[in-house]
Amino acid sequence: MAAMIIPCIFFIQILAITSKSEAKVSAIIVFGDSSVDSGNNNYIPTIAKCNFEPYGRDFPGGIPTGRFCNGRLPPDFISEGFGLKPIIPAYLDPHFTISDFATGVCFASAATGYDNATADVLKVIPLWKEVEYYKEYQMKLRAYLGNRKANEVISDALYVISIGTNDFVENYYALPRRKSQFTVQQYKDFLIRIAENFVRQLYSLGARKLSYTGLPPMGCLPVERTTNFENPLNCLEERNKVALEFNGKLRATVAKLNKDLPGLKVFFADAYELLLELITKPSQYGFEVVDEGCCGTGLFETGILCNRHTPLTCPDADKYMFWDSIHPSQRTNKIISDKLVPLLKQLFL
Ligand SMILES: *[C@@H]1O[C@H](CO)[C@@H](O)[C@H](O)[C@H]1NC(C)=O
Repeated sequence: MAAMIIPCIFFIQILAITSKSEAKVSAIIVFGDSSVDSGNNNYIPTIAKCNFEPYGRDFPGGIPTGRFCNGRLPPDFISEGFGLKPIIPAYLDPHFTISDFATGVCFASAATGYDNATADVLKVIPLWKEVEYYKEYQMKLRAYLGNRKANEVISDALYVISIGTNDFVENYYALPRRKSQFTVQQYKDFLIRIAENFVRQLYSLGARKLSYTGLPPMGCLPVERTTNFENPLNCLEERNKVALEFNGKLRATVAKLNKDLPGLKVFFADAYELLLELITKPSQYGFEVVDEGCCGTGLFETGILCNRHTPLTCPDADKYMFWDSIHPSQRTNKIISDKLVPLLKQLFL
């Protein structure tokens, strides 16, 4: 008896979810870097990978998926918040097909940036190539759903974009080439032009609902604190200033695009202030450590340096704002998403 009732209830719930969400946000489509990559780098020849323990130890099933985190990322939580699936599959993962990707797909690649030269550093997927994969996805989606339904999915999808930190951390401040070509002001403007073209391109391909994330307080990433020799382990204030200025320009660009392009709605998802609040008032959010990552010493480990044999990894990542020396812990991602989802629903439902 119970066995018959349960499938019925389940079925009704599915109907309720689809009828509510399909009307407005059809899918979550993700572009960007490791802040949102759900495992594309597993399938390309790069060292910017993390599909091994202890990554993923708090992910459902404890699986290392290639997410640079102990658990889920903001797009996973956002998708769940919109009544869609609780994890966003990576486009290059052969375990998934277009029927999975029709309600959510990730084109992001860890270690990439706006600048082609940033993707070159660790041989990852440049942003233009993410867009090429998206075009291929559209073709598969049309073949799978038919033109009319596919167009609906494309225009009703929420596009989540998070990129830019690596252009500074991994490229501009780490390597000589861009620094010799651009002042930091000029480099910001160079990146902003790429960002603007990227949004215009997504728009021309049919995207209408975007959540666009700016830069975090870069100078407070543990790996950046580690390089602060004047004030050991303090934030690099100059890098935070660069992030703030970049975000100001990006916000203005987003406002302009919203005005220029009819039917486009871009939400500027500025996580800078919230992240800074977690850093300055950790106990209010239940964090005990914000200046070091959980993995290893927390000072420099990320990717291959954070592995099963890395000593000193913390037992409870929920007490840490950062999982490794660059990437937020799952709990930080959840806190960000819990703030963001109601705002996105207000705008897009
Ligand atoms: C990046 O590379 C692609 C492919 O070669 C090219 O089309 C694009 O113009 C480049 N972007 C910039 C900003 O140079």
